[in-house]
Amino acid sequence: TICPQFFASCLGEGLLGKASDKGLVRIEVENLRDYATDKHQKVDDEPYGGGAGMVMKVDVWAAAIAKARADLPGARVVLLSPQGETLSDAATRWLAQNEHLVLCCGRYEGVDERVAENLVDETLSIGDYVLTGGEPAALVVIDAVARKLPGVIGRAESVETDTFAAGLKYPQYTRPPEYRGWQVPEVLLNGDH
Ligand code: ADE
Repeated sequence: TICPQFFASCLGEGLLGKASDKGLVRIEVENLRDYATDKHQKVDDEPYGGGAGMVMKVDVWAAAIAKARADLPGARVVLLSPQGETLSDAATRWLAQNEHLVLCCGRYEGVDERVAENLVDETLSIGDYVLTGGEPAALVVIDAVARKLPGVIGRAESVETDTFAAGLKYPQYTRPPEYRGWQVPEVLLNGDH
């Protein structure tokens, strides 16, 4: 990412924060600018063929990804991009099998295509819409993958019974049994469900 501060608060909160505290996940954020070689720490340049917007540079991404691969042998390297394969529950499951994931967040109007072609293992999208950068997409991937890891969700069965593992999640209720005339289904109240 070129925006490391984007991740700070999100990763410290809630179940993800607890998972980090318990040592179940470890998330490190690298600033792509640290891999730029010119004095202005330039990470993007004008597109060949013209057009609006800037394109992130292949050489800078190559340096950053090489460092990540060297530090994390066997890591799966994923580029977040609206052009990628759409994230699914199955994908989060097998991403969670990897010891190390490297999530590459692009910014600006695009990333030199040679990054997707030659440097990463796969390209993932979180849906059919375009974000201003890959950072929110990376957070989605981190969250969805982390909750597949043993111990991250309080009760292991929550993962098994949640929306995708068991078809659509059934509606849930808690006290009070009646609120403004809105009733909790009788079958849930008699303890015999
Ligand atoms: N970057 C911009 N839009 C994106 C999307 N929909 N999914 C993943 N990365 C993105």
